[in-house]
Amino acid sequence: MEIIYNLPDFREFRSLLDSQSKSIGFVPTMGALHNGHLSLIQKAMESCEIVIVSIFVNPTQFNDPNDLKNYPREIEKDIKKLSPLNPNVIFIPGVEDIYPKPDTRIFDFGNLDKVMEGATRPGHFNGVAQVVSRLFDIVRPHKAFFGQKDFQQLAIIKAMVLQLDYKIEIVSCPIIREENGLAMSSRNSLLTEAERKNASFIYKILKEAKASYPALTIEEISNTAVKKFENQPGINLIYFEIVDSKSLAPVKTPDNSSEIVACVAVKINAVRLIDNLIFD
Ligand code: PAJ
Repeated sequence: MEIIYNLPDFREFRSLLDSQSKSIGFVPTMGALHNGHLSLIQKAMESCEIVIVSIFVNPTQFNDPNDLKNYPREIEKDIKKLSPLNPNVIFIPGVEDIYPKPDTRIFDFGNLDKVMEGATRPGHFNGVAQVVSRLFDIVRPHKAFFGQKDFQQLAIIKAMVLQLDYKIEIVSCPIIREENGLAMSSRNSLLTEAERKNASFIYKILKEAKASYPALTIEEISNTAVKKFENQPGINLIYFEIVDSKSLAPVKTPDNSSEIVACVAVKINAVRLIDNLIFD
């Protein structure tokens, strides 16, 4: 496991791979690694000969400066967590490596970045697209691994790959949860023990919503879930939406061909958490 801290060193490593015909898997992260991240790396190691993990807290995707400031940074711990998996390279670039000059590109994802996270975090997905395309250009992987935990992000990355014509396979990986059902997230480390317990409510409601489908209508399911969140102390609901898994447009009456997914965002004190569950 090699740790590379800057772009010139990474380019040197990457150019050595050009003469070898090895499959390259890439797992971009912002660090503060947990088992969700590790599951992506595991999956990459199963299907690729070379696995590169990046750790970079991308400033352009934070619309709230306090969120960027408070985002957990624990590089030493991260390196320890990665060593048993032993990916080939951990790439930990600096801001000057990723953005030698300000990235002014504006992406157009149509409806995909207007709803849910996009509506409540202006500019967030443009920043995600900027950093991921920059990383793709640097790393030049064959496959890149992303978690379904960030369902909307995954849809946007797939759209970006089509728009920019990257020859990269996007592999989506299932959500890894704590024992109590809470979706693993780097931000969970910012919760107190009591808040973490309370946060298991999110998955409970998602499961109840899924169980009531199709007996109840989408509107009834949504209204019931919203009411339950409103009655739960300590959790502030930002949105609960049932959308088409491809277009991310709200679904009123699903037809048989569409896959639908319930997406939720909440705040527990200052900590913003998201989760989702696909309905069969
Ligand atoms: P980060 O939040 O660190 O997540 C890195 C990857 O891990 C993402 O693909 C995310 O969906 C996945 N992931 C996080 N929690 C997960 C869980 N509980 N189960 C499965 N996968 C999980 O997402 C980002 O970073 C950034 O936006 C990034 C893509 C790196 C661009 O900066």
